[in-house]
Amino acid sequence: MSTPSKLLILVGTMTNTAEYVAQAIEMDCGDLVPAIEVRLMNGLDGTVFDEDALYVICTSTYGAGDVPDNARHLYESLASAPRYLGSVRYGVIALGDSAYPQTFCNGGLRFDERLTDLGAVRIGEVFRHDASAGTEPEVVCTAWARDWLTHALDATA
Ligand SMILES: Cc1cc2nc3c(=O)[nH]c(=O)nc-3n(C[C@H](O)[C@H](O)[C@H](O)COP(=O)(O)O)c2cc1C
Repeated sequence: MSTPSKLLILVGTMTNTAEYVAQAIEMDCGDLVPAIEVRLMNGLDGTVFDEDALYVICTSTYGAGDVPDNARHLYESLASAPRYLGSVRYGVIALGDSAYPQTFCNGGLRFDERLTDLGAVRIGEVFRHDASAGTEPEVVCTAWARDWLTHALDATA
């Protein structure tokens, strides 16, 4: 495995929190990796995983534990047009709210399950942010991302 040329953060969001989180990571972690790109999931399909990149799925949860609307096409295409993703290394930031205990952070967990099924390898644990915890998602997710990136770059060197 060679060092990836960039970190690609794929954003699933309804009310932009996940996008703000991704932008905060982009601003904070530029010293750790040659490039960071934030991309909304709108209209993407599984070919997005063909790039020479480390991936972070950064998504919230809606409905009955579903992925946000802008993530639906990508999420469903991973099942309808499956491809082997054995070279993909990724992390997950799952935004949710423990006020929904049955489906807490399921949007991120769903992506994790589907990517693992296709052979992709998650680095580290899924990071969950609880909107009811009273913490700033940008702050705690950025701190996680710095640790995760350091570890992920070691693991892919
Ligand atoms: C209508 C609605 C439904 C939600 N459903 C869930 C849910 O089932 N599980 C969960 O963990 N969080 C749920 N949430 C919480 C959001 O995922 C959380 O607030 C997240 O930070 C929003 O991020 P976003 O602004 O990027 O969409 C829900 C929020 C709303 C407004």
